[in-house]
This record gives sequence, structure tokens and C-alpha cells, in this order.
Amino acid sequence: MTPPYGLQGRAAVVTGATRGIGHAVARELAAAGALVCVTARDAEEVRRTAAELGGVGLAGSVADPEHPRAVADLALREFGRIDVIVNNAATNQPYGPLMDVDPLAWREAFSVNVEAPLRLVQCAWHAWMREHGGAVVNVCTEGATHVGPRIGAYGTSKAALLHLTRQLAGELGPRVRVNSVSPGLIRTEMARFVWEPGEEEVAAALPLGRIGEPEDVARAVVWLASDAAEWITGADLLVDGGTRVRAAGTATGYAIHERLRSRGTATS
Ligand SMILES: NC(=O)c1ccc[n+]([C@@H]2O[C@H](COP(=O)([O-])OP(=O)(O)OC[C@H]3O[C@@H](n4cnc5c(N)ncnc54)[C@H](OP(=O)(O)O)[C@@H]3O)[C@@H](O)[C@H]2O)c1
Repeated sequence: MTPPYGLQGRAAVVTGATRGIGHAVARELAAAGALVCVTARDAEEVRRTAAELGGVGLAGSVADPEHPRAVADLALREFGRIDVIVNNAATNQPYGPLMDVDPLAWREAFSVNVEAPLRLVQCAWHAWMREHGGAVVNVCTEGATHVGPRIGAYGTSKAALLHLTRQLAGELGPRVRVNSVSPGLIRTEMARFVWEPGEEEVAAALPLGRIGEPEDVARAVVWLASDAAEWITGADLLVDGGTRVRAAGTATGYAIHERLRSRGTATS
């Protein structure tokens, strides 16, 4: 069980919370006693998830400039506070070499992965956090600090989110802490095209011998959002099974990059 770490009765907004990492985060936050407000585009899935977790939800795309304000308004109306924001919703499109990328698809990636997190924090800051404090956790990626095949738009936007995390941490202290979690390969829909065919090969290349589960990331997010991390801001917590340190191990090659290189399209 997740220790409550001061999250009892606090209100948390989790974007992209109907499946994968976001769902695990919202579940762990609710288990720690937080009131949760969940979002995603599929209205039926949002309704189901909110009911499952005893919280509230709002369907819509974070790319819609009005959506973050509507989400913040809902959380304030229902819970009277917004203590935690988890910016988790993201897209890994457009996939492929940057020279072939459609500018509108590139802009959409930045709207979803960078602009939406900023808008949501702005709304929560002005409505609640500036006066009462809070914690923000942005979900980045292990790949944000280096390059990889066919994922240039995703990687560039996540690198921007990593920088945004640090910039906001500096601007919003001491009342609001802003940190990120950077997952390695996690068993979710977004990454299915990488892990599903021959998962053992990918797992064998990782020092910890398996790919990640959404709960591995959720526990790190909840910890950073909690009072247990009260003197931590501007940090990025890697949750990657040792992906970054694999070069010291016995495995040769990098199965993840080989798979990214050989896939024509990604699915999310
Ligand atoms: N899985 C990995 O290996 C991995 C690795 C590194 C980082 N990450 C990061 O982890 C986060 C979660 O990814 P995941 O793997 O859990 O993905 P996932 O299983 O595909 O889940 C994505 C969630 O976000 C929602 N969503 C997608 N686009 C949205 C939009 N425009 N507006 C609102 N909600 C949206 C989806 O619901 P709807 O489709 O109904 O909108 C769903 O609830 C992302 O930030 C991703 O970049 C994942």
C-alpha cells in the first residue's frame, strides 16, 4: 500500500488518466487518500475511471486551449482546491524522420506535450496554488536527453517539457514544487509497438531484466507529489530499469532503438 505522505484529502488533477501510466498514477493517488480529477479524450473511459476512483472527470483533448481551464474549474468546484497536478497526457506522433514531418502535426505534438502542461499549471497557480501551495509532476521520458530514430518530434517536445519543469520550479518556489519523472519502456498502449513483439529481447538488455509496469512510474510520481519530497524541486526522477546505465552491462546493441528504426508507424 502507498503511504499517505500527507496526500489525504488533497485534490489532484491527472491528465490522460484512463489507461497506462496516468491511470496507475490516479489509482495510487486515490489509494493515498487524494481526491482525483481525471481527463482523457474518450468520454466513456473518463466516466468509468472517475467512477472507479470515486473522483470526477472531464473529457477533452489537452490540445484544446480551453480544456485546461475547464479541468481546473471542475476540480475547484468539486473539491475546493487543487494541490497536485500530474501532466501525463502526451502524443508520440508525428513519427518518422524530421525532414518528412508535417508542420501541423509537429505543432500538435508541442500543444499536447508542452503547451498543455504549462496552461494547466497557469490555471492552477492563479486559482489556488499561488496562495496555498502545491506540487506539479510532469511525465517526461528517459529519451528526452538524447536522440533516437524516428522519434524526433516526441523527443524534442519532451526535452522542452524537461526544461519547462526546471524553469517553473525556479519561478514557482517556495510554495509550489515542480518535478518530472522520466520513464523508460513501460508496458502501455503508447509503447506497445516497441515492447510487444519479443519483449524478452528488450528486457534482457536492461540491467533490471524487465520492462517497466505503469505502477513503477506511478509510485515515483506519487512520492514526488507528496510531502515526503518537500525539499525537492526542479528534479527529474529516472524510472527506467537501468536503461541509462546499460552500457556497463553485458548486453550488446540496443533493442529499443532497433525496433524504433524498423517500425513504419507508431500507434498513439
Ligand atoms: N509507455 C512508455 O514506454 C513511456 C515511456 C516514456 C514516457 N512515457 C510517457 O508516459 C505518459 C503516459 O503514456 P502511456 O504510455 O501511459 O500512454 P497510453 O497508455 O497511451 O495512455 C495515454 C492516456 O492519455 C490520454 N490522452 C492521449 N492523448 C490525449 C490528449 N490529447 N488529451 C487528453 N488525454 C489524452 C489517453 O486517453 P484518450 O486516448 O481517450 O485521450 C490515455 O488516457 C506520456 O507522457 C508518455 O510520453 C511513456
